[in-house]
Amino acid sequence: MSDSSFLSDSLVDRFGRMHRSLRVSVTDRCNIRCFYCMPAGPLAFLPRQEVLTYEEIARVARVATSLGIQKFRITGGEPLVRSEVWRLVDRLVCIDGVEEVALTTNGLLLAEQATQLARAGLDRINISLDTLREEIFERIARHRGLYRVLDGIAAAQDAGFTKIRLNALSIRGLTEEDIVPLAAYAFERGLELRFIEFMPLDADESWKTERVLSGDAVRAVIEDTYGPMIPVTRQDPSQPAVDFEFADRPGRIGFINPVTAPFCGDCDRLRLTAEGQIRNCLFSTREWDLRSLLREGEIDDAELAAQFAAAVTEKKAGHVIDTPAFLRPERAMYQIGG
Ligand code: 5AD
Ligand code: SF4
Repeated sequence: MSDSSFLSDSLVDRFGRMHRSLRVSVTDRCNIRCFYCMPAGPLAFLPRQEVLTYEEIARVARVATSLGIQKFRITGGEPLVRSEVWRLVDRLVCIDGVEEVALTTNGLLLAEQATQLARAGLDRINISLDTLREEIFERIARHRGLYRVLDGIAAAQDAGFTKIRLNALSIRGLTEEDIVPLAAYAFERGLELRFIEFMPLDADESWKTERVLSGDAVRAVIEDTYGPMIPVTRQDPSQPAVDFEFADRPGRIGFINPVTAPFCGDCDRLRLTAEGQIRNCLFSTREWDLRSLLREGEIDDAELAAQFAAAVTEKKAGHVIDTPAFLRPERAMYQIGG
């Protein structure tokens, strides 16, 4: 019922941006408490019945694909704390028109689940790795467990994943000394590595411009050790990272600089929160409700499609972080999906 009945260009916004990618949060829960995302204090997570079932997500995904979405990224919270998330992978990869299903994880539970995820047909895994020092990991995550992340990375490689990317969030005054070791770690293992700037999406609102370690500053540290880097021509303009290669040795590193160099102009992403709300941006101040539609009874896919179209129509040109016009979203990262 959902195929071919909608216009394939219905997810084009006022600025001509075509939306091809949907990030699907499957839970707001997490097994750690990174300060740049979660609050330090007690947390009230969503009650189970408020979270979309895999069946509901699959229905939304079929509608989204009929509208031109080709890529899905499963996020959280931490997606691997949701039970048997490979079952969702399995459903998504079977949908006509789906080109890629990826998952973003903190890696703690990856060693246990890598084989099942690979078997289900997951195409890519992004693993957060901000530091290789346990004490810094603990300061960031407010929890021990770096060794489990490293085991998880090894397990993903053993399970046969070839598309593994490490995402390193850089924080001024905290992770400077991790930059070169992370690069060395990634090069040795043939893993992709991206450095990401700290965005004001932390529940505790501790974000300050001064804590942003810019992508340019990180690159300068890498160049000090490894020599000059040159930007790689972008294959896919909607990719938020700008990749750099070395002038005279192998190795590539990506930089996602949402604060110092916003890339909203080429954004092709929409988001679905764990409780079934569409957001058209991380910094969206509005949401479009799919859950109540899904649970109303006999509703047509066209009604779900109309919500996607409405979200896209209202998408703003871009975020304005670090300007007086910036409005902090009411939700923190773990409630949106990274
Ligand atoms: N700024 C930038 N990135 C963030 N992430 C979480 N919180 C923030 C933030 N405030 C990233 C994590 C992880 C992904 C899930 O989201 O580094 O890679
Ligand atoms: Fe958990 Fe990811 Fe948030 Fe860290 S950034 S607390 S790993 S959801």
